[in-house]
Amino acid sequence: MQPSAPQTPDFRPIIAEFVDVHRHYVMGENVVKALNGVSMQVRKGDYLAIMGRSGSGKSTMLNILGGLDRPTTGEYRVGGRDVSKLDDDALSDVRGQEIGFIFQSFNLIQQLTVLENLEVPLFYQGRVGAESRQKAEYLAERVGLGGRLEHKPMELSGGQQQRVAIARALMNDPLFLLADEATGNLDSNTEQEILNLFDDLRPDGVTIVIVTHNPKVAERADFTLWLKDGQVEKLVDNRTAERDAARAAGASASGGHS
Ligand SMILES: Nc1ncnc2c1ncn2[C@@H]1O[C@H](COP(=O)(O)OP(=O)(O)O)[C@@H](O)[C@H]1O
Ligand SMILES: [Mg+2]
Repeated sequence: MQPSAPQTPDFRPIIAEFVDVHRHYVMGENVVKALNGVSMQVRKGDYLAIMGRSGSGKSTMLNILGGLDRPTTGEYRVGGRDVSKLDDDALSDVRGQEIGFIFQSFNLIQQLTVLENLEVPLFYQGRVGAESRQKAEYLAERVGLGGRLEHKPMELSGGQQQRVAIARALMNDPLFLLADEATGNLDSNTEQEILNLFDDLRPDGVTIVIVTHNPKVAERADFTLWLKDGQVEKLVDNRTAERDAARAAGASASGGHS
């Protein structure tokens, strides 16, 4: 998916791939081509933003990426496997095990503590125990909430709640994080904190795909894939030497999280 031929070949594994994906909706006499031949690849460690005007196909693409919908024709490959023809149960397993969702509205369970919310993804797989507890504690620490393990979501700020949601998304060691306007409910300072957290996670090999309306959010990703009328209009490389140097300096100076 790299726009210009890289100097060195990219050997990182492809973890999500669209192969000529179409998603058509039949509306009476008309066919709406929400996606009209999209091919793209996400490699391990990528940070990709998807943008485009209203109606360009972003939500449709997000739904297919997240295993909530299937292509009408074409392939969607996750971890090398074509999942576009799986039945609902099998697709739901892919969703639960391979994809870490982060939503605009956090989607935490209000009655549960931070720690318990983090264990929810493993609970559904019958994998809650001492190890899941340790992992939840580790990830809470990783997102800067080590001191909030017994708090309920209502006792946390919006930014803290989104940190919980990010840690929860990581509990299953997903192939990639999929964020839908993840900072849309946050003020701009808190938005920056969450985007900084994404940067901090990347050295762990985390792969991130976000859908956003906000150019300032998108430009924090390495690439922006622009959709237009259900097709890839362009792929923009957002990286500059200055940006990456400033980030590297910021990351080593800040250390932990506030
Ligand atoms: N369930 C649906 N039934 C019919 N048309 C749909 C449906 N979902 C989306 N569309 C159409 O597909 C196109 C792309 O929609 P969408 O993916 O929601 O775009 P975006 O998220 O970029 O605004 C639009 O023309 C929209 O009206
Ligand atoms: Mg949309």
